[in-house]
Amino acid sequence: MSRAVRFDSYGGPEVLRIAEVPKPVPGPGQLLVRTVVAPINPGEIGIREGAFADIWPATFPEGQGNDFAGWVVSTGEGVTGFAAGDEVIGFAPRAAQADYVALDADAVALKPLGVSWEEAAPLPAVGVTAWAAVDAVQPRPGETVVVSAAAGGVGVLAAQLVRLRGATVVGTAGGHNFDFLRSLGIVPVSHGPGLAEEIRKAAPEGVDAYIDTFGGGNVDIAIALGVPAHRINTVADPLAVRRYGVHGRAQEDAFSPVLVAELADLVARGRLAVPISTVYPLERVGEAYIELARRHTRGKIVLSLVPEADRERERRALFGDRSSNPT
Ligand SMILES: NC(=O)c1ccc[n+]([C@@H]2O[C@H](COP(=O)([O-])OP(=O)(O)OC[C@H]3O[C@@H](n4cnc5c(N)ncnc54)[C@H](OP(=O)(O)O)[C@@H]3O)[C@@H](O)[C@H]2O)c1
Repeated sequence: MSRAVRFDSYGGPEVLRIAEVPKPVPGPGQLLVRTVVAPINPGEIGIREGAFADIWPATFPEGQGNDFAGWVVSTGEGVTGFAAGDEVIGFAPRAAQADYVALDADAVALKPLGVSWEEAAPLPAVGVTAWAAVDAVQPRPGETVVVSAAAGGVGVLAAQLVRLRGATVVGTAGGHNFDFLRSLGIVPVSHGPGLAEEIRKAAPEGVDAYIDTFGGGNVDIAIALGVPAHRINTVADPLAVRRYGVHGRAQEDAFSPVLVAELADLVARGRLAVPISTVYPLERVGEAYIELARRHTRGKIVLSLVPEADRERERRALFGDRSSNPT
């Protein structure tokens, strides 16, 4: 038996429980992974509350979580390229917040050994989403790009990816995040009233592209600033996509293990930071979502399935002296 987050009806964080479930068995082409870290994401709140029941209904008892990092424990028939003990990063919809995850090997990338579990695990969700948003608006060197909620999970990665393409980033945030954004080379502006005027002051020569990771009227502001629709992407406002014909590219449009590996390589080389605000043990999953729902997370909140102090002991118990990933 192993632990897994489950809920039996739509509702608030109080419906979440830690269930004892059978350890999954990997089918052909699958891996069984011992989860070490599983992040949490705002979209999971909507699914659990039933807000997306029309498009993504739950099947009770429902599992939770998408992105994760962990050790390969065993491989199903026909799997090549992975072995027990490998450190991997993966995407397992509604299944990641569990001690063990069985998933198709083609949804998994190797984790560079120099990247921490906490930094690696969010890459298949917010990392890929940020990449999709940046790719949609194609920033060029010397341009100015606005990123809304630039200290949030998607925003802080999108802002850094834009900077890597040589553009200037104006990032919206609360004042408590201004110094943090400056430390990443991002020009902060307050996301409060008067945002359009704040952006005009920060970008007197105009805004070339706008990446919205919050919704709440950001696309209206981008249009009012004169940014062409094809240089605007929102991951949080599907109505604006229909109204203005802007891009709505997100995780599902870009996910691949190759892209996850590329993002992990940027982290390994110190070119992309994945800020972690809080690490909760799995048992405190409800509290973790209460914090997330306040919508002031800097970077990511993650769940730890194997406490940091126990990781080396558990790795040795599972794999002995076998070394991790091929170099
Ligand atoms: N479809 C997909 O594939 C996909 C994948 C991932 C995420 N998403 C969506 O993308 C959005 C962002 O996700 P996330 O994980 O980045 O969220 P998040 O980490 O919870 O975002 C938190 C950030 O929002 C900022 N914020 C709070 N109030 C704001 C306001 N009024 N205006 C602008 N920013 C504000 C906060 O900044 P301050 O603390 O500085 O105020 C904080 O840094 C969500 O809607 C999520 O559902 C979609």
